[in-house]
Amino acid sequence: MMTYHNILISVHEGILTITVNRPDKLNALNKATIEEIGNAVRDGERDRTIAGIIITGSGSKAFVAGADISEFVKYSDKEGKELSAHGHRIFKSIELCSKPVIAAVNGFALGGGCELAMSCHIRVASENAKFGQPEVNLGVIPGYGGTQRLIQLIGKGKAIELMMTTDMIDAQQALQLGLVNYVTSPDYLIAKCTELIGKIKTKSPKAIAGVIRCVDAYFTDGADGFQVEIDEFGKCFSNDDFKEGTGAFLEKRKAEFIR
Ligand code: COA
Repeated sequence: MMTYHNILISVHEGILTITVNRPDKLNALNKATIEEIGNAVRDGERDRTIAGIIITGSGSKAFVAGADISEFVKYSDKEGKELSAHGHRIFKSIELCSKPVIAAVNGFALGGGCELAMSCHIRVASENAKFGQPEVNLGVIPGYGGTQRLIQLIGKGKAIELMMTTDMIDAQQALQLGLVNYVTSPDYLIAKCTELIGKIKTKSPKAIAGVIRCVDAYFTDGADGFQVEIDEFGKCFSNDDFKEGTGAFLEKRKAEFIR
């Protein structure tokens, strides 16, 4: 296993938990932390024993309070663009991970923190979570996909309001807007994420990966999502999961998919 300096890694019952671990900075994302998250997700995706990934923050106050402002404060426009492109690349790899990735939002999810959560497939928030895109207070804009994914998740009207006013919303408001899937007590947060992955891991891993690719195609410029679905559907018929899933149904038994 790789050595990390900014994140903690643990594996329990086939679930990889990545904990952003910079509590004195409210888990703010510097470049190295983003890189480490990307590497950990990639390794989890490659590891056959891993069924799903949870991303959370250390401590009870913050999931991630944004990009590390102290790191980019003196950046030039070229460096700023590179920083954004680096974050985009890694957040996209999370979004395209072929295994379920769930954000366990345990406190502030601001700026890059909200963007990190939005790059995950599912978001579960604890009651004390707070979401926001405060970048315009600093003279910048969201740079890790926030201007796009916030619209995708909650619609243009509310997304542009949140980005222009920088208003923070609480977990219940995030739930109402569709920014998060569930709200739980802080104590139950990881258990809820574990329960979701537990449910998904009984399904066909190849079909789950196909769903992820089709959903992504909806938001990909130039991609014909319907055609991607036709192709992905066709591909299912030549894999073992399809034989096992349909066979199990017809034999009236529970399907056992091999990861
Ligand atoms: N980048 C770098 N450091 C950060 C940070 C960030 N995004 N967010 C918090 N920190 C640091 C603070 O500078 C402080 O460090 P210090 O103890 O060395 O002074 C420490 O984390 C604790 O934060 P603090 O502001 O004292 O906590 P708070 O409870 O008063 O406020 C927040 C919490 C989240 C409201 C506040 O920290 C904040 O607004 N953070 C920036 C959010 C942001 O703009 N994110 C988008 C960045 S593009």
